[in-house]
Amino acid sequence: MFTDTHTHIYDEKLLADPNQIHRAIDAGVTKLYMPNCDSGTVDAMLQLADSWPDNCMPMMGLHPTYVNESYETELASVEAWLAKRKFYGVGEIGLDYYWDLTFKEQQIDAFERQIELALKYDLPIIIHSRESTADCIDIVRKKQNGKLRGIFHCFGGTLEEAQQITELGFYMGIGGVVTYKTSNLPEILKQIGLTHIVLETDAPYLAPVPYRGKRNESSYIPVIAQKIGDIMGISAEKVGETTTANAALLFRA
Ligand code: NI
Repeated sequence: MFTDTHTHIYDEKLLADPNQIHRAIDAGVTKLYMPNCDSGTVDAMLQLADSWPDNCMPMMGLHPTYVNESYETELASVEAWLAKRKFYGVGEIGLDYYWDLTFKEQQIDAFERQIELALKYDLPIIIHSRESTADCIDIVRKKQNGKLRGIFHCFGGTLEEAQQITELGFYMGIGGVVTYKTSNLPEILKQIGLTHIVLETDAPYLAPVPYRGKRNESSYIPVIAQKIGDIMGISAEKVGETTTANAALLFRA
């Protein structure tokens, strides 16, 4: 059994293909956690959550690349949704220094305030940390009161940062990038083991080899597990079992 802790299956590129969820379940990927982007993605996400209540788990948050001058309105929407129904996490949230730095201060404010919401509702946070891993770690460290938990999604930092994340009690989301030739993830995984690892696709992006460059989907999770198993000298099944147990503990689901 496998868990995809990060999949944008409500994305229109994927929604057009309803068989993707059947393919995932057939591949043993039975739990699909859906990070939100902004108020414009909520309806499509919740439709899937209502149609597949045992498989498609919705999360609520404002993605850092969607933070702009109207972010206060978006944060109010996140807060209202969290009060209204069950979500499994607050995400995705965080900092993105790659695309645009115009709203850096607002991104930091949105990140910190959504961490407070996660603490209020006792939910894990899903962190997007593109070119901002050190700043995200600093903010998590500042907010860690012993109760904050979550995932550094699509972890792309150094071994030292990986160690800091595990010391904070956080998990690292590992996806298709681990299959790319230039990735430093194999060396990091050998050092830190599976205790703080969960699997993710980030579909429809970042497909693993041999699908690199194509549309990604949750049924490729076993390909990622196989690569991690090869790195660590264990079976893909064992990787799936351990990382699914990690995700169940984190999401309490
Ligand atoms: Ni994402």
